[in-house]
Amino acid sequence: TRSIRPLVAGNWKMNGLKADLAIAVEVAKGYDAGLKAAVDLAICPPSTLLYPATAALIGSRIATGGQDCSVQVSGAFTGEVAAAMLADSGAAFAIVGHSERRTLHGESNATVKAKAEAAQKALLVPIVCVGETKDEREAGKALAIVKKQLRGSVPEGSTAATLVVAYEPVWAIGTGLTPTAADVAEMHEAIRAELGRLLGKAAAAGVRLLYGGSVKPSNAAELMNVAHVDGALVGGASLKPDEFLAIARACV
Ligand code: G3P
Repeated sequence: TRSIRPLVAGNWKMNGLKADLAIAVEVAKGYDAGLKAAVDLAICPPSTLLYPATAALIGSRIATGGQDCSVQVSGAFTGEVAAAMLADSGAAFAIVGHSERRTLHGESNATVKAKAEAAQKALLVPIVCVGETKDEREAGKALAIVKKQLRGSVPEGSTAATLVVAYEPVWAIGTGLTPTAADVAEMHEAIRAELGRLLGKAAAAGVRLLYGGSVKPSNAAELMNVAHVDGALVGGASLKPDEFLAIARACV
């Protein structure tokens, strides 16, 4: 039995045109009473679809989220999307510090923290992503790297109601590879402990810790049953309603 209500969030990444709102509608159709009683769902489409996706999901109790947000509030920042704009489009969450942002856009821990703070100020719950590379894991540095990312990226004063953390080993994203259940258990326990040092034990105890990286229906039961795994951040499989729902069912 879980002490924390799990969250399964779909990160569509840069995928999705208007026609793909049908994916969200299909997920809503499959989010039956049994699932609603046990698992929260969120869909994070590209920001162009955030408003219509939220509208399509009204009444479903499925939340939406952005995939990133600006550290800035408003002004002359061409191409940036402010957290308040995501909130205004219906978002409840904002993914920040995804490894694709950290790697492809050079986002530092300090930037990720500023984004998480910007999200919180707009009353969005940031989903702060952390995770080691293949080289870092092979060098035995995975725990140290992730703890450092947490210390640098998690806003002070965050609580279970204002923070979600996602552990996504970079080498497991989109590769079909996943860590062993034992490795996930070790990492999630370490993340909970580090959050305890940063936020206090009581706050840290309720923060949802998602696992992400090649989560599929075939491995979801094993991964979701690891201690301190409170749900999933799903990439590729979140574009397939049956698979996304099957992953959600694995949390029940
Ligand atoms: O944010 C979720 C993501 O990075 C995992 O992607 O495709 O391996 O599930 P995927």
